[in-house]
Amino acid sequence: MTNQDWHVTQQSQCIVPNQEVLVEEPIVPYRLYRFLTDLEEILLKDSDDAIRVQKICPLVRHLLDNSPWIELQFLLPDPNTGWSVNTLYDEPDYPLTIQMVTWAPGVTSSIHNHGTWGLVGILSGEEKNTFWQAPDTFPDQASSAAQGSGQGLHKTGEQVLGPGDIITFMPDAIHQIEALGDEPVISFNLYGETDFERRFKFAADTGDAKLF
Ligand SMILES: [Fe+2]
Repeated sequence: MTNQDWHVTQQSQCIVPNQEVLVEEPIVPYRLYRFLTDLEEILLKDSDDAIRVQKICPLVRHLLDNSPWIELQFLLPDPNTGWSVNTLYDEPDYPLTIQMVTWAPGVTSSIHNHGTWGLVGILSGEEKNTFWQAPDTFPDQASSAAQGSGQGLHKTGEQVLGPGDIITFMPDAIHQIEALGDEPVISFNLYGETDFERRFKFAADTGDAKLF
């Protein structure tokens, strides 16, 4: 377990975040409703998504460290799709969704962004994240950075995450995940309010973007 925090910027650069945001240590037991209340306060106080996820990350770490029931809430991957989602929290008119996501070994996701800030904490298994940039959004960094197979996208990096690692995403960060190893990847996923006009899936070969 490395228990490493990562952050993926709007330009899909994966970095180690600045650790200097101090958050008061929450009380134990850290009930889900307290976690949600703390999150709501952060979202009301800070409008910058980079600051938000930096403050939210230690709270998620605290929640996962002190609420062992959460890691039992996963579903086995659907044998037809290779993945499954168990929604732990999703309330109308409240801009947060919590899901347990499971990927079968060897499964690869689409290339996508989320159109909102997001956080993924790995509970079990090993997940490779590959990061991509859309050149029409960032034309100045086009061909010289191109490494990937997608003609319209270029790869900005990759990172293998294991149990205890937490990665946060800005709304425009583009990634693709692959479940490595022999066991399913089980993760805790937290997202803000999706802007469906800004959430895309990208074709790997052409880089064409489609809303989803
Ligand atoms: Fe994703």
